[in-house]
Amino acid sequence: MQSNSQNFDVLIVGSGAAGLSLALRLPESVRCALVSKRELSEGNTLYAQGGISAVLDSADSVESHVTDTLAAGVGLCVQSVVRTVVERGPDNIRWLHDEGVAFTQSPATGDSTFHLTREGGHSHRRVVHAADATGREVENTLVGRVRQRPNLKILEHHIAVDLIHTRAQGEARQCVGAYLLDIRSGDVISVAAPCVILATGGAAKVYLYTSNPDVATGDGIAMAWRAGCRVGNMEFIQFHPTCLYHPEAKSFLISEAVRGEGGRLLLPDGTRFMPQFDERAELAPRDIVARAIDHEMKRLGSDCVYLDISHRPAAFIEEHFPTILARCLELGFDMRKEPLPVVPAAHYTCGGVRVDSHGETDISGLFAIGEASYTGLHGANRMASNSLLECLVYGELAVERILQRLAEPHPWTEVPRWDESRVTDSDEEVVVSHNWEELRRFMWDYVGIVRSNKRLARAKRRVDLLRNEIEEYYGNFRVSNDLLELRNLVEVADLIVQSALRRCESRGLHYTIDFPGTDPNQAHPTILIPDSYVPHPQGE
Ligand code: FAD
Ligand code: SIN
Repeated sequence: MQSNSQNFDVLIVGSGAAGLSLALRLPESVRCALVSKRELSEGNTLYAQGGISAVLDSADSVESHVTDTLAAGVGLCVQSVVRTVVERGPDNIRWLHDEGVAFTQSPATGDSTFHLTREGGHSHRRVVHAADATGREVENTLVGRVRQRPNLKILEHHIAVDLIHTRAQGEARQCVGAYLLDIRSGDVISVAAPCVILATGGAAKVYLYTSNPDVATGDGIAMAWRAGCRVGNMEFIQFHPTCLYHPEAKSFLISEAVRGEGGRLLLPDGTRFMPQFDERAELAPRDIVARAIDHEMKRLGSDCVYLDISHRPAAFIEEHFPTILARCLELGFDMRKEPLPVVPAAHYTCGGVRVDSHGETDISGLFAIGEASYTGLHGANRMASNSLLECLVYGELAVERILQRLAEPHPWTEVPRWDESRVTDSDEEVVVSHNWEELRRFMWDYVGIVRSNKRLARAKRRVDLLRNEIEEYYGNFRVSNDLLELRNLVEVADLIVQSALRRCESRGLHYTIDFPGTDPNQAHPTILIPDSYVPHPQGE
């Protein structure tokens, strides 16, 4: 046992909407470490554009938000979870507002004091936003708030490597801490804490083209799986229909709110095509729009389709989409005057670590919240702007359970030291960069918007090869940020492929040419169980 390991009540890994909101809801008497593998603000939350869904207008209702979410999820949402999240929406928006988040105000869209925009799948205007940079406003405001909290120790540029938990036979396992690599010094420290929260975000970086920043490598999902937690619904990776098509844009997102405010999708010859695919046209749920675009691009052999909002007044576009307009102008496109070239890209991980009603995983004291988790809210397809809402609500729910756990006796206050006695420095970094490229390319080609058994089997063979190679490398060389992320990406790729192979139907975001129809007998989640899983002695 290491005598000088750091010791906290709560260890939060990840500083997006989920991790930050949970941190701010803990009482100041709780000693907490907040860890982020880059600077605090970097993560998917920072880039969120459209907004956060919540019932805030009297013409709207909880029933309607629930119904729309269930419809988008194509039979796989857990109804009680959807209701809880939707019911808690308005209070969570008020909480953010009280913390200082400045949402766009305007009475013009109903009787809400906030301007409400519209996105795919929503039958009402119910998306609160801060122009087209909602995530930036939320993230920066909450980062400012956590920096003022004396009970929070902030560890930036630290990447969690793996979890530490008890292993006693016949007893429920308990999480007792985690190993963290200080990316700048290369040292691995062990942190003891009776509650560990994985708020590590999604895994869309497993695909070559993605709207996500580089940190979205599924670390929390991979760590929880290795520790023995079940994961759910990993086959449901959401592809956002409209990312800017430009070599320098790095899949810059063109918010769904552009379609919500009247934007139309066009073929290269200017023909509108979405009405032929769905009566909701451009505002159909994302799986339908992304698949329609993919179909048209393949049919015509074209590199992209176009999104046109130039029929709206220039002043409206400038007011509602200032960030998108500015970035497009930098790249030579003026959306006030011309259509924008767009393509789909991997955007959101609907599945994740399976958790209960309060975000707790199969290991007592280990929580997963936000995009890293599988709560049952999104089913086979997440409805736009329900993700930030889930981050906030599960942050709140997890705090209730964390306070209970902290009142219980805890097995260890010290944790084992990280063992580096058998490793050396790598002399072959190229292995990491090569495998990183290869993995993301074959995931895009074989496990993308349209799948088949043959492509999935091909992907599985390649994942298995990469896994063996990386595990061998991991066992022999000192850990680095890139190696850890690659190891996690391969783990997550394996979970996605395994889940996709199990679903012998097409539903929501999982579409396979071998089973093009939806099978009512398969209206259940895909739950994968690791070999190291230990059922809770008292049952669920
Ligand atoms: P993130 O915000 O991704 O934060 C994850 C954190 O974990 C980061 O701080 C990261 O550094 C840290 N981390 C990860 N692994 C480790 C590790 N091993 N060790 C230490 N730290 C680690 N959703 C909506 O509801 N509305 C929108 O308008 C919207 N727009 C979007 C636009 C874009 C371009 C993108 C990419 C996503 C959008 N989404 C939107 C989805 C939404 O932003 C995310 O699902 C949500 O922000 C996830 O929040 P999170 O806190 O779970 O994770
Ligand atoms: C967008 O603005 O289109 C993204 C919204 C989301 O992912 O929920």
